[in-house]
Amino acid sequence: MGLFPVAVGALLVWIFSVTVHSVSEIGANWGIQATHRLPPDTVVRMLRDNGFQQVKLFDADYDSLRALGKSGIEVMVGIPNDMLASLSGSVEAAEKWVSKNVSAHINANNVKIKYVAIGNEPFLKAYNGSFLRTTFPALRNVQSALIKAGLSNQIKVTVPLNADVYESSTGLPSGGNFRADIHDLMLSILKFLSDNRAPFTVNIYPFISLYTEPSFPIEYAFFDGNSSPLNDSGTNYYNMFDANHDTLVWALRKNGFGNLPIIVGEIGWPTDGYAYAKGLYAQRFYQGFMSRISGGRGTPMRPGPIHAYLFSLIDEDAKSIDPGNFERHWGIFSYDGLPKYALNLGKTNSGALIPARNVHYLEKKWCVMKPSANLDNPQVAISVNYACALADCTSLGYQTSCGNLDSRGNISYVFNSYYQRNNQLDQACKFPGLSMVTKTDPSVGSCRFGIMIEPYYGGAGGRFGSRQRTLGLVVGFIFFLWIFL
Ligand SMILES: *[C@@H]1O[C@H](CO)[C@@H](O)[C@H](O)[C@H]1NC(C)=O
Ligand SMILES: *[C@@H]1O[C@H](CO)[C@@H](O)[C@H](O)[C@H]1NC(C)=O
Ligand SMILES: *[C@@H]1O[C@H](CO)[C@@H](O)[C@H](O)[C@H]1NC(C)=O
Ligand SMILES: *[C@@H]1O[C@H](CO)[C@@H](O)[C@H](O)[C@H]1NC(C)=O
Repeated sequence: MGLFPVAVGALLVWIFSVTVHSVSEIGANWGIQATHRLPPDTVVRMLRDNGFQQVKLFDADYDSLRALGKSGIEVMVGIPNDMLASLSGSVEAAEKWVSKNVSAHINANNVKIKYVAIGNEPFLKAYNGSFLRTTFPALRNVQSALIKAGLSNQIKVTVPLNADVYESSTGLPSGGNFRADIHDLMLSILKFLSDNRAPFTVNIYPFISLYTEPSFPIEYAFFDGNSSPLNDSGTNYYNMFDANHDTLVWALRKNGFGNLPIIVGEIGWPTDGYAYAKGLYAQRFYQGFMSRISGGRGTPMRPGPIHAYLFSLIDEDAKSIDPGNFERHWGIFSYDGLPKYALNLGKTNSGALIPARNVHYLEKKWCVMKPSANLDNPQVAISVNYACALADCTSLGYQTSCGNLDSRGNISYVFNSYYQRNNQLDQACKFPGLSMVTKTDPSVGSCRFGIMIEPYYGGAGGRFGSRQRTLGLVVGFIFFLWIFL
C-alpha cells in the first residue's frame, strides 16, 4: 500500500479525462419539415444504432423530445426565429418557454438537454435584418430563465449563426472579422456567451460556396482534395472548411475572445436537385470530414477536437426551395430512413450506416401516365403544374437523379409524387384521362419512384396534424377537378 496505487489511480483519472476531451463530438441535425415524418422513436433508434451521441433540433417538438427521453443522447433544443420577438419582449415568456420545453422534459422524462439554440441563422443577410433587434434580448431572457430554473450550469445558450456573420478583408483567414453592419451586436453577444461559458455556434457550407460561386475550385470543397493551398503567412489551407473556420477564429481573437469554444452547428452536403448535389460528392465530403472528426484533428488555428452536427440526418420534403432545389435533399438518410451511401461514422463496427428499423410503407403501387394518353393533351401541362406545386419535383431537371427521364417518365414522376404525398388516395391519381395506378415499379437507374411511408399522427402534441393536412390536399384536389373538368 502507499503512494503507488494512489499514483496509478490519479494516472488513470488523468488518462480518462484526457481521452474524454480528445475525442471529437459528432451529432446530427434532426429537422421535421417533412410531409411524412418517421416516427420519433424510430429516429431515436436510428441515432443510437449509428452511434450519434448528440442531436440538434430546430424547435422543441414534444414528440421528438419525448422519444429522446432516457436515450442518453445529448440534445440541443431550438427556438425558431419567429419566436424571438415574443421571447425578447418578456422574461416571463422566456420562463414559460423554459418551463414547458426544457424543465418539463428533464423532470418527466430525463431528456439530456445540454444546449438551447436561440434562433436559427438569425443574421442571415436574406432576412434583411428582421431579427437584429430581437436575438440578443431573447438570448438574455432565456439565460435568465435557465438561471431561475436552476439549469444554467448544465444547459448552455448559444446562437447558431451562418458563416456570413464574418468575412475576411484580405481573402485569408488572418483577415477575419465580423461583418461591419453587425460588428457591435456581435461583440455584445460574444461577451455574453463568454461571461456565461457558452459556446459560439456556426454553420459552414462548402457546398453553398460551390453553388453560389461557379468559379469556386471544387477540389477545395473536399478534405482530400488536391487543390493548391492558400498560404496564410506560412499556414497552408487545403480546404474551405479549415479556412472558413479559422477566419472565425481570427475574428474572435481580434476582438478579445480567442478562447471562446466553437460548435459547428451544421455541416453537410445534399444529394439531389443540383449538378454537384450527388451521393458521390456527399460521401466524399462527409467521409473526409469524419476522418478528421474520428482522428480528433481540428484546424490549423484550433488543432484540437471538433464538436459538430451533420446536416442532416433525414431528407425533409416540405422545406422551402427558395435556397435551391437541393434544399429537400440534405439527409444522409432518405425520407424513409434508408442510407444514401456508405459512410463510416467511426462509431459502429460495420463501418456502414444502419437503416431505420420497422419502417411501415404504404402499398407497393405507383401513379403513372397512361400509355394511351397523348403527350399533346392540353391537360398535361395543367396537371403537371398543379401537381408539382403541391408535391415535389426537385429531383427533375438538369443533372438531377431523375434528369434523364423522357417526357412520359417526367410526367409519371410528377403524378406519382403527388399520389404518394396524398397517401395513395384514389382521387390523387385521377388526372383527367392521363393517369393510372400501376403495381410495376417505374424506377429507372438513379431515379427512384418512391413509395410513401405511413403518415405519423403523433403522440400527445400532433395527433390530428397530418390528417388535417391530407384532408386539405384532398379538398384542394376536388376543387381543382371542379375547375378544370
Ligand atoms: C414550446 O415549444 C414549442 C415548439 O417550438 C412552441 O410551439 C411553444 O410555443 C413553446 N411553449 C412555450 C410555452 O413557449
Ligand atoms: C428582403 O428584401 C428583399 C428585397 O427588398 C425581398 O425581396 C425579400 O422578400 C425580403 N426578405 C425578407 C425575409 O423579408
Ligand atoms: C507562404 O508565405 C510566406 C510569407 O507570407 C512565405 O515566406 C512562404 O515562402 C510562402 N510559402 C509558400 C509555399 O509559398
Ligand atoms: C422534365 O421536367 C423538368 C422539370 O419540370 C424539366 O425541366 C425537363 O425539361 C423535363 N424533361 C422532359 C424530357 O420533358
